[in-house]
Amino acid sequence: MDDFYYGEGGLRCEGVALAEISESIGSPTYVYSFAALERAYRELEEAFSGLDHLVCYAVKANGNLSVLRTLASLGAGADIVSGGELYRAMKAGFDPKKVVFAGVGKTEAEIMAALGERILLFNVESASELERLEEIAGRFGKRARVSLRVNPDVDPGTHAHISTGQGESKFGIPIDEALVLAEKIGRYRCVDLIGVHQHIGSQITKIAPHAEAIEKSAGLVEELKRRGFDIRYFNIGGGLGIRYRDEEVPSPKEYIDAIRPSLEATGAKILCEMGRYIAGNAGVLLTRVVYRKKSGAKSFLVADAGMNDLLRPSLYDAHHEVRSVKENGSSSLKADLVGPVCESGDYLARDRELPDAAEGDLLALMGTGAYGFSMASNYNSRPRAAEVMVKGDRWAVIREREHNADLIKGEVVPAFL
Ligand code: LLP
Repeated sequence: MDDFYYGEGGLRCEGVALAEISESIGSPTYVYSFAALERAYRELEEAFSGLDHLVCYAVKANGNLSVLRTLASLGAGADIVSGGELYRAMKAGFDPKKVVFAGVGKTEAEIMAALGERILLFNVESASELERLEEIAGRFGKRARVSLRVNPDVDPGTHAHISTGQGESKFGIPIDEALVLAEKIGRYRCVDLIGVHQHIGSQITKIAPHAEAIEKSAGLVEELKRRGFDIRYFNIGGGLGIRYRDEEVPSPKEYIDAIRPSLEATGAKILCEMGRYIAGNAGVLLTRVVYRKKSGAKSFLVADAGMNDLLRPSLYDAHHEVRSVKENGSSSLKADLVGPVCESGDYLARDRELPDAAEGDLLALMGTGAYGFSMASNYNSRPRAAEVMVKGDRWAVIREREHNADLIKGEVVPAFL
C-alpha cells in the first residue's frame, strides 16, 4: 500500500500525517487515499485494454459520496443493490447509463426509481422478479433492459458468508433454467434481454474459480446468441481479492489475461463490478488506545473503535494489519485489540503481535477502505466514525462524526406514553 507509509510525523497517507488528522478531528476516523482509489481503478481499466468494457464500482464496498464522486469522475460505472445506493450514485454524479442494479429482493419502489433514471441494466435474479419488472415497466410505459444473473455453481474458495455462486446459494438462476427463462422473456413486451451476469463471491484469491465460472457463463452468452437473443453485455461480477496479510493475489492483468479468450469469444461488452479491489487498500481506520488491561495471562488493548465501526473481524474473523501511527517497528505485545462494545465478539484483532501501544496512542487498522464504514452501525448507541479524504497534501472531512442527537433522529415518543 504505497499511499500509506512511514515518514515525517509517523504513518502518513499521501502528503498528510495521520496523527495530524486525528489531532484535529479525533478518533475513530476512517481515512481514504484519493491516489490509492485512482490507482486501483486505473489498474483495472488497463487490465481490460483491448476489450470493449466498463468497470463498475460496487457501491456497497464504500458508498461515501466523495469516494463515489472520485470514481464517477474517473469514468467508472456503478453497481448498486438498493434504492439507497441508486440515490447515492445519482447524487455523486454517476451517469445512469453506466449503472447496473443487482440484488435478489428489488422492491417495486426501487424498480420504479431505477426505471425512472433509465439505468443501463437490471441484473435479474428470478422468474418472479422478471414478471414484476415486465408488469411495472408496462404500467409506466418504460422499457427495462435486463441481464440474467446466472449461478454457475462454482466454489470460489472464500469465506462461506461471502460465497454467492454455488448451487445452494440464494443468488442467481441455474444456467439450464436461464435458457428456459430467456425464451419466456422473448414473449415479454417491456423487457429486453441484452445481458448475462454472474458473480461468485468476494475476496477470491485464486484465478481458477473465476475462470471456471466465466467459461460456463460465457457458454450461456454464446448459446443465447445462437438462439437469436441480442446479448450485448457480459457482466463478470466483482470479487477480485486483495492482500490483507500475506495472501498471494492475482493482479487485475493476470486475472483478465487468464479469462480473455472466454471474454473475447462472447463478442459482448464486458462489465465488471469491483468493490474491494478499488476501495479496500485505499482506507485505514484510526483508533486510539483507551486502556491497557491484563486478565490473568492475557493482555488487551482497548480501543475507541469497536465492532460497530469495523465489523469484519467479528463477522468473518477477518485479519486487518494493525500499525502504530507514531512509529514503524515499535516493540510488540501479544494481545487482543478489542472495542468498547458489550459483546465478547467485539474485537478488531485477536491473539496477535500488536504494536506495544500506550494508553492514548493512535493505531491504524489497514485495508479497511472496503466494507468498513459501509457496514458500520450504531449498536450500543455509538455515533458512527468520521470519514476523511486525503488528496496530495490536502485533506477534508467527507462525513462528519455523528453526534448523540443523530442517534435519536426520527425517534418519536407518542403522547400515550
Ligand atoms: N457484485 C455483486 C453482485 C456482489 O454481491 C458484490 C459483493 C460485488 C459485486 C462486489 O464484490 P467485491 O469486488 O467487493 O468483492 N462484507 C463482505 C463482502 C460482501 C460482498 C458482497 N457482495 C466483506 O466485508 O468481506
